[in-house]
Amino acid sequence: MMQVRLFKPSVGEEELANIRTVFERAWLGLGPTVVQFEKEWNAYLGAKNSVGVNSGTAALHLALTSYNFPRGARVLVPAMTFVATATAVLYNHLEPVFVDVAPDTLNLSLDDLQRKITKDCVAVVPVHFGGHPVPMEKLLPIARAHKLAVIEDCAHCAGGSYNGRKLGLWGDIGCFSFEEKKGMTTGDGGMMSTNQPELIEPLRANRWVGIDKDTWKRAAHYTADQETDTRHWYYEIAVLGYKYNMNDLMAAIGLAQLRKLDRMNRRKAEIIARYLERIKDLHRIRPLQPYQLEDSGYWIFGVRCEQRDALILHLKKRGIATGVHYMPLPLHPLFRTNTDSIPAARKVWEFVLTLPLFADLTDVEVDYVCDALQDFERK
Ligand SMILES: Cc1ncc(COP(=O)(O)O)c(C=O)c1O
Repeated sequence: MMQVRLFKPSVGEEELANIRTVFERAWLGLGPTVVQFEKEWNAYLGAKNSVGVNSGTAALHLALTSYNFPRGARVLVPAMTFVATATAVLYNHLEPVFVDVAPDTLNLSLDDLQRKITKDCVAVVPVHFGGHPVPMEKLLPIARAHKLAVIEDCAHCAGGSYNGRKLGLWGDIGCFSFEEKKGMTTGDGGMMSTNQPELIEPLRANRWVGIDKDTWKRAAHYTADQETDTRHWYYEIAVLGYKYNMNDLMAAIGLAQLRKLDRMNRRKAEIIARYLERIKDLHRIRPLQPYQLEDSGYWIFGVRCEQRDALILHLKKRGIATGVHYMPLPLHPLFRTNTDSIPAARKVWEFVLTLPLFADLTDVEVDYVCDALQDFERK
């Protein structure tokens, strides 16, 4: 029996070669490779400034920190997302407001967004769910009219574009995750990117326990012959920082992954097209989202099925891994006191199922999954 994983990072010789270079320098922490990765990421995305961190969660946390919002201010987040979208709000002593999903895309509903905006809302964090773009040309005027900062959660859509512009550059700050299951990976890792450099430049200290100097650059002065400065070790802490830095090993992997990103996204689009073609006549199993594959950066491929749990078992018996993204956040005990109304999310999440998708998935494996889906339809 075939065993098909749900996600699998596409890593090999290119990543190893970059890691070797970092080993040879024997500087593994925050250093020149992080700087190079940030530069190449800027060039790839078309961003003016990017700050590398050790997770997408850290990126979201710090992006919100940059605004210094008053304690207790409210931030609009989708109800169906990974918990980090909302915990980043809590870390900043802010309060999440859960916006219901648009039933067709599973992105946040713009109608519900408008209903939930109150005068104490300061920001909105749209998540491009599964890599499917939020209609940013519609979201932005709503956000601007209410003076909301727009932090795009791009954990699912690295490299994806919408209407010719890279996702992550539509709002004020784009936050990416390079966690191991994502479209590109650095093991764990994340990035904040923007075309308003002043928004995130100060966060370089926040990601580095508050230190306002670059240790790699300072190290060059520790031993220099002509140096008369005895204070080469000096730094000051002016802000509350976190140990959130990306390191050179992560960046080494990231540089290799970045070169493959478009290719990996194109391959995933091809796989999704193959899935869609093979399930187009099924009635019990329908595509999760209205996939638009051109210039896309989809992270997951999913289906909707009224007998979802039976389908999970059917696939499990055939060695096919599945997942559920996501149980709505207000259903978690952490948010039990939240009373936001999210009827669409409460209904739809019971029927969603994530199927295997990653760049190295073979056509034979996709066909094996599709055969199993067709078997289920006939049962
Ligand atoms: C929507 C969303 N936001 C944020 C994150 C957090 O990313 P990380 O795992 O890199 O902290 C994830 C991770 O799965 C995610 O799915």
